[in-house]
Amino acid sequence: MEYKKLFDIIQNLTGVYLTEEKKYLLDSRLNQLMKDYNLKSYDEVALKLITKDDLEFYHKVVDRITTHETRFFRDESIFDAFVKQIIPEWMEKHGNTKTQIKKPLKIWSAGCSYGQEPYSISISLLEHHPYLFPYTEILATDISKDVIERAKKGVFTDFEVQRGVPEFIKQKYFVAINEKEFKIKDEVKRNIQFQVHNLIQDPYPSGFDIIFFRNVLIYFDMEQRKIIIDKMIQSLRNQEGTLILGSSENLLNLADNYIIREFGIARYYEFSKSVTFFKKF
Ligand SMILES: C[S@@+](CC[C@H](N)C(=O)[O-])C[C@H]1O[C@@H](n2cnc3c(N)ncnc32)[C@H](O)[C@@H]1O
Repeated sequence: MEYKKLFDIIQNLTGVYLTEEKKYLLDSRLNQLMKDYNLKSYDEVALKLITKDDLEFYHKVVDRITTHETRFFRDESIFDAFVKQIIPEWMEKHGNTKTQIKKPLKIWSAGCSYGQEPYSISISLLEHHPYLFPYTEILATDISKDVIERAKKGVFTDFEVQRGVPEFIKQKYFVAINEKEFKIKDEVKRNIQFQVHNLIQDPYPSGFDIIFFRNVLIYFDMEQRKIIIDKMIQSLRNQEGTLILGSSENLLNLADNYIIREFGIARYYEFSKSVTFFKKF
């Protein structure tokens, strides 16, 4: 049962909720690290994490225990919705035109993993709304220091690029650095700021128009989900804005004033005044 203590500590530190069936994750993901640090049991791992005397060890555990599965233009339909509905409506709402941008666009990619998500957002803007690109800031965050360091470099294997990047986008926005790797061009990186950020423990940034928060919520229990979504909404400009979750996630019982918007098969969430009005009377 010693793993239960470690499960609790991991949940307190990262929010990631592990059940008994996930014990194999600990075994497979921490095995080598335990050997490297000469730790004989999960109790010893737990103790080392609690004492917080070794930040590097903490980052290594966090990196191994979190799942970083991602790809460029994941759930393509949401990127279609982004360029064809979300951005045009946002432009209109803020009185922006292609020749006059009165309000800059702030986007947060929370739990961005190796960077495929923020880079896909940036490329989408360059391709479909280039006039808006100079007025856009993208904050890309993740709890894992290792993934943020890799994301900043913007270097991807052939396999990672093939998974989602159409050939013409590859030609336009990537440069081959050797036979197996490609680097994303500087113009795509220009508006992205990468930062380590823990959704459970760190203060939240604010003032965003759109938050991409995809395929992260699934790792938390219901109580944590509620706390995180409340904070995410506070992070949106005036608590109004667009929240984009993963295709298997939803806001059911998490945010009353947010309604589902659709575009083709894509779904995302937006603040609705009428829900507030309806609830009051
Ligand atoms: C499955 S990936 C999703 C990546 C990307 N958003 C996508 O949809 O392709 C989940 C990411 O969430 C990050 N994550 C997990 N717990 C976190 C936390 N407490 N704070 C910030 N990021 C976290 C993981 O490190 C991981 O990179």
